[in-house]
Amino acid sequence: MTDDRPILFFDSGVGGLSVLAPTAALLPHAPLVYVADSAGFPYGTRSEGEIAARVPALLGRLAERYDPRLIVIACNTASTIALHHVRAALDVPIVGTVPAIKPAAAISQTRVIGVLGTEATVRQPYVDDLAARFAGDCTVLRHGSAELVEIAEASLEGVKPLPERMRAVLAGLFDQPGGERIDVIVNACTHFPLVEAELAAAAPHPVRFVDGGPGIARRVAHLTKGQSWPHVVGSASALSGKAVFTARSARTDMLAPALARYGLVEIESL
Ligand code: DGL
Repeated sequence: MTDDRPILFFDSGVGGLSVLAPTAALLPHAPLVYVADSAGFPYGTRSEGEIAARVPALLGRLAERYDPRLIVIACNTASTIALHHVRAALDVPIVGTVPAIKPAAAISQTRVIGVLGTEATVRQPYVDDLAARFAGDCTVLRHGSAELVEIAEASLEGVKPLPERMRAVLAGLFDQPGGERIDVIVNACTHFPLVEAELAAAAPHPVRFVDGGPGIARRVAHLTKGQSWPHVVGSASALSGKAVFTARSARTDMLAPALARYGLVEIESL
């Protein structure tokens, strides 16, 4: 028997594509639905109350509409604030995306780690907890940047990030006391791996970047192990994914070529 139910990825914008890509690489037969809450974007400047109310309600509607076998909240802001609310509300396995502090601590030589996220994510107690549990012997410096979310979103529309803007964003970490010793940066917003090459080029010295994408892909593969996937006529690439926007606009339409590169060839609105 085949199972047509998709894996549903959810983010405020295009950032979750950095989580979808490694998952699709591991599970090439999985039907994918990618949802960007363009009506609620950006999340990083919203309050905890807004996110905690909006995300579970929206995911409830999406679960009814797309009947996913599993939902990936491909957004650190939504996960660090609303993951437990979503799990309590829905009867679907939920995988969240939280700052990859553990893998960063495993590779840091200097024991100084930078966490680059949204303003909302970097102030969450969830992040305090991750730092205490997995990086207790490290200095963990944090910086939240709404501008970098916009830069990453625009990069998928074809706008090249400016090196001076990238340097200014990174100064938020490197200019903190002890910041000159940072050797690993956690991309704690799913948008940021989309511009990782430009961030790396703008860093004052070589640093390594880590994010949750590869670990989430392995987790999804583990949770869906043994499940059946739709029969595909021809190659796996004949499978087509779907992108869903909560509000469609000229801006979201400009993303079509980039979405197609991720295998998302259909676009619809909620
Ligand atoms: N991509 C999201 C994250 O991982 C949020 C970006 C935003 O909407 O501010 O935090």
